[in-house]
Amino acid sequence: MSIILGIETSCDECSASILLHEKEVLKPLSISTFSQIELHQPFGGVVPEVASRNHLEQIEPVIWDALAQAKMEIDDVDAIAVTNRPGLIGALLVGVTAAKSIAYAKHKPLIPVHHLEGHLMSAFLTSPKTGTPKIEFPAIFLMVSGGHTNLHYIEEAPAFWKPTMLKDSLIGHSIDDAAGEAFDKTAKILGFPYPGGKWIDEQAQKGDRNAFELPRGLKQRDSYDFSFSGLKTAVLLLAKRLEMEGSLAQALPDVCASLQEAILDPLLRKATLLCKEKKAKSIVVVGGVAANSRLRQRLMEESPVPVLYPDLQYCTDNAAMIAAAGAIRFSQGHGLMSQDFLKLNAFAIAES
Ligand code: KG4
Ligand code: ZN
Repeated sequence: MSIILGIETSCDECSASILLHEKEVLKPLSISTFSQIELHQPFGGVVPEVASRNHLEQIEPVIWDALAQAKMEIDDVDAIAVTNRPGLIGALLVGVTAAKSIAYAKHKPLIPVHHLEGHLMSAFLTSPKTGTPKIEFPAIFLMVSGGHTNLHYIEEAPAFWKPTMLKDSLIGHSIDDAAGEAFDKTAKILGFPYPGGKWIDEQAQKGDRNAFELPRGLKQRDSYDFSFSGLKTAVLLLAKRLEMEGSLAQALPDVCASLQEAILDPLLRKATLLCKEKKAKSIVVVGGVAANSRLRQRLMEESPVPVLYPDLQYCTDNAAMIAAAGAIRFSQGHGLMSQDFLKLNAFAIAES
């Protein structure tokens, strides 16, 4: 059994969590998150300097709050896990520096965590409503967040994951915008506040999905990669045309329904195709876009296997998924002690 403190500051959520790891159970005892969404909203997207300055203000309060909620002291923690890549470099450095300081002062092991491994791990967190998830392997993981769109083929449970698993299991990814970014950028063009995914989802429910023909990136059958930048340009041109004709406001639900389908089509087609090709036993959807109602409806109709979603609180950026990834690494003997972790750095990119 181990108790892990997780810290996540890679983008616009400042989050800390206390997690209990016992056999296959990864149970968050607390999650404290300060979301910066309202701070970035006036700019229509995340401003890196605003993000890192706010993380500096929030990092201590969220850590103390996570400990208090779990009714624990820092001495009760066995190891500290922190996101050190990829993300906004100034934002990551706040979390990494806080984690190093606590680990050094309290003589605790430190575990650097890749943010995307955290998103994969979110599927294994114990839910207060449904308990510990039972995922059948092999499984296809569709990771659809604001910053990343990946397809992974996962053969076994986290306890057996190698340090290279993220790279080894990756089958496809977006070569430009992420799916969430496609929602957010097209929503911005259409005049919705940041982040726009939920507004498109809401409007689309009243619209005609076939009203406008919009491009599907990388249609080729032999590629599991995605591309959404062409769609963004097509929506921009369409919005300009409708605006000139004076019909944009009236056509908004149809535009949203059509563009949502253009984002979902390649995601669902490639995820189900890979599932059949690999004879996978389940599909797992992680990341903020997993909240999309049409994605859930379509997967219910189109998936050949059961589809699993983590609780929504685990889908968006949070420190429990980072603590979980750290807990697995810690149980495999990967914690760094001070002579090693003092050299630990943060990296903006996924790999170096
Ligand atoms: O996982 P997340 O916090 O992002 C990153 O880790 O990068 O997810 C946020 C993303 C945003 O792009 C947001 O617009 C999108 O998830 N999102 C949605 C919905 N709810 C949130 N996209 C489509 N439909 C939704 N209902
Ligand atoms: Zn994320």
